[in-house]
Amino acid sequence: MELEQFIADCRAAVTDSAATKAVREAVARAVSDSSALEQILGTPEQGGIQRIHVSDELTILNVPRMTIMPHNHNMWAVIGVYGGREDNIFWRRIKDDPLGRIEAAGAKSLGPADVRPLGDDIIHSVTNPTSKLTAAIHVYGGDFFATERSEWETEGLEERPYDIEKAVRLFEDANK
Ligand SMILES: [Fe+2]
Repeated sequence: MELEQFIADCRAAVTDSAATKAVREAVARAVSDSSALEQILGTPEQGGIQRIHVSDELTILNVPRMTIMPHNHNMWAVIGVYGGREDNIFWRRIKDDPLGRIEAAGAKSLGPADVRPLGDDIIHSVTNPTSKLTAAIHVYGGDFFATERSEWETEGLEERPYDIEKAVRLFEDANK
């Protein structure tokens, strides 16, 4: 798998009328050969967000995951895991809750070569149940760094604005 080809495939896919399906197929192809992808992107040794491609229409990140609090994206996404494991909890908003709280609605455990598309309004949290970092490609249907979204603090599950700088800091702290 050539990284340049994967980026080109994703860029072509977002213009497709069935963009998430086309991106899902491109990600599935990429993570189907986990060891090839790991050679290209490197074995994750610490957390952190590696920007593979960022434009208005498309963001591709290599995200070695630890644990991430509930958050939404406000754009569709496709996750493909190529190493380790990530346990996703999916949440739904509690209707008319004044604090914007959420309740758990489902779960999906993703291992190597697993691909999961996420709709625009999905809320999820991610836990890594293994002792090594999860290796995953994340593709988003927009500019991940320029879109407002929410996160939910883990004790009370109350909604607040997502702070990308804080998320980057959390990765850095966890690496220390
Ligand atoms: Fe996410």
